[in-house]
Amino acid sequence: MDKVGIGLIGSQFIAELHAEALKRVSNARIVAAASPTEAHVSAFTRKHAIPHAYTDYRAMLERDDIDLVTVGAPNDLHCQMVCDIAAAGKHVICEKPLCRTMDEADRMVAACAAANVKFMYAEELCFVPKYVRAKQLIDMGAIGDVYLVKQAEKHNGPHSPWFWDVDRSGGGVTLDMGCHAFQFFRWILGNRPVTAVTAQMGTYVHQGRTRGDDDAIIIVEFEGGARGMAEESWAKVGGMDDLAEFYGSAGVIFADLLHGNALRVYSETGYDYAVEKASTTQGWSFCTFEEMWNYGFPQEMEHFVDCVLHDKPPLVTGDDGRAVMEIIFAAYESAGTGKRIEWPYQPPRDKTPVEVWGK
Ligand SMILES: NC(=O)c1ccc[n+]([C@@H]2O[C@H](COP(=O)([O-])OP(=O)(O)OC[C@H]3O[C@@H](n4cnc5c(N)ncnc54)[C@H](O)[C@@H]3O)[C@@H](O)[C@H]2O)c1
Repeated sequence: MDKVGIGLIGSQFIAELHAEALKRVSNARIVAAASPTEAHVSAFTRKHAIPHAYTDYRAMLERDDIDLVTVGAPNDLHCQMVCDIAAAGKHVICEKPLCRTMDEADRMVAACAAANVKFMYAEELCFVPKYVRAKQLIDMGAIGDVYLVKQAEKHNGPHSPWFWDVDRSGGGVTLDMGCHAFQFFRWILGNRPVTAVTAQMGTYVHQGRTRGDDDAIIIVEFEGGARGMAEESWAKVGGMDDLAEFYGSAGVIFADLLHGNALRVYSETGYDYAVEKASTTQGWSFCTFEEMWNYGFPQEMEHFVDCVLHDKPPLVTGDDGRAVMEIIFAAYESAGTGKRIEWPYQPPRDKTPVEVWGK
C-alpha cells in the first residue's frame, strides 16, 4: 500500500474538517464519501474533488480501494456504522463521543478486534499543537507533580437539530464536549486510572430546546491524587472558548487555544468569519487563523493514516473512547444522585447518559 484509500461517512460539519484535513495528508487518498441526501453528498464530493459519491455507506464499504473509513455521522449511528465498517475489513476512525451506551461501546470494540482492524478514536485535543507542547513540558517535569488539570470548552450550542434530541445524541454538553475534557485529562496524566467523579449540571438556557444538560462542572479524580476539572457549556454566547490550565508543585501553564492565538480586530463593518459559533464580527472580535491546524485536525489524520500505513498503534483508540464513556456515565450519575461516584464503577449497559441523569 503506497497511499491509504479513504471513505468518508457524512458530508456536513465534521466531514468537512475530515476532508480538509485529509487533503493535507500526503499518504491519504480520499476515494469516496457517503451521506443519505444525494444533493449534499454530490456537492461535498464536487467541492473536495472526491471521485465517488454514495447515498448508502454500505455500498461504499464494498469498494476494494478503501482501507480506512471515517465516521462523521450523528451519535446514534456510530455503533452500527463502526460494526459494518469492521465487518467489511476496513480500519475505522470514529468521531467523539464514541457512542450512546456501554453496550454499544463493547460491541464496537469487539467488532474491530474480531475483524483485526484498527479502531481509532478521533479526539483532536491530543493533537492540538499548543497542548502537545504543554504535555512535553509536563512530561519533562517543568511544572513538577501535576495536581490539577482544567479544561473548558464553551459556546452557545451545536449547529444541527439531532444534538439537541437526546434520543439521538444520548445526552447534552457533558456527553458532547465533556468527552473532549475526559480524554484530555487521561492523555495529559498518562492514562492513570480514574478513582472518582463528581458533577453538577443543568439545563439553564435552552430548556425550550432540549432535555439535555447545557452547562456542567465535572471533577475527575485520578490515582496518585491529580484531579481534572471540566467546565463545559452550550449556554455561553460570544463565540467559542477552549481553555486549559495545568497546576503542578513547581509551576503552572495556561493555554487559551482560540483567543490566545487570535488577531484582536475592531471592525465597524464586520467581516466574513471570526471563530466557530461567533454570532457577530462587528466591534471588537477575536479573529482566528489556521483554525483547523491550531485544532490539530490535520495532525490527527496524519497520525491515523500513518498508523494504518505502517501498522503502528494509534495514540487514541476505541478503548480510550470506551474509558471516556465510563467517566461520562459517572458524571451523569453523580449529577443525578448528588453523590461522588467512586471506582470500581460499573455504568448501566443499556441506558444513555441522559437517562442515567434521570431526565
Ligand atoms: N471532533 C470534534 O470536535 C467534533 C465536532 C463536531 C462534531 N463532531 C462529531 O461528529 C459527528 C457528526 O457531527 P456533525 O457536527 O458533523 O453533524 P452534522 O449534523 O453537521 O452532520 C451529520 C452528517 O451525518 C450524515 N448522516 C446522517 N445519517 C447518515 C447515514 N445513515 N449514513 C451516512 N451519513 C449519515 C448527514 O448526512 C450529515 O452529513 C458527531 O458524532 C459529533 O459529535 C466532532
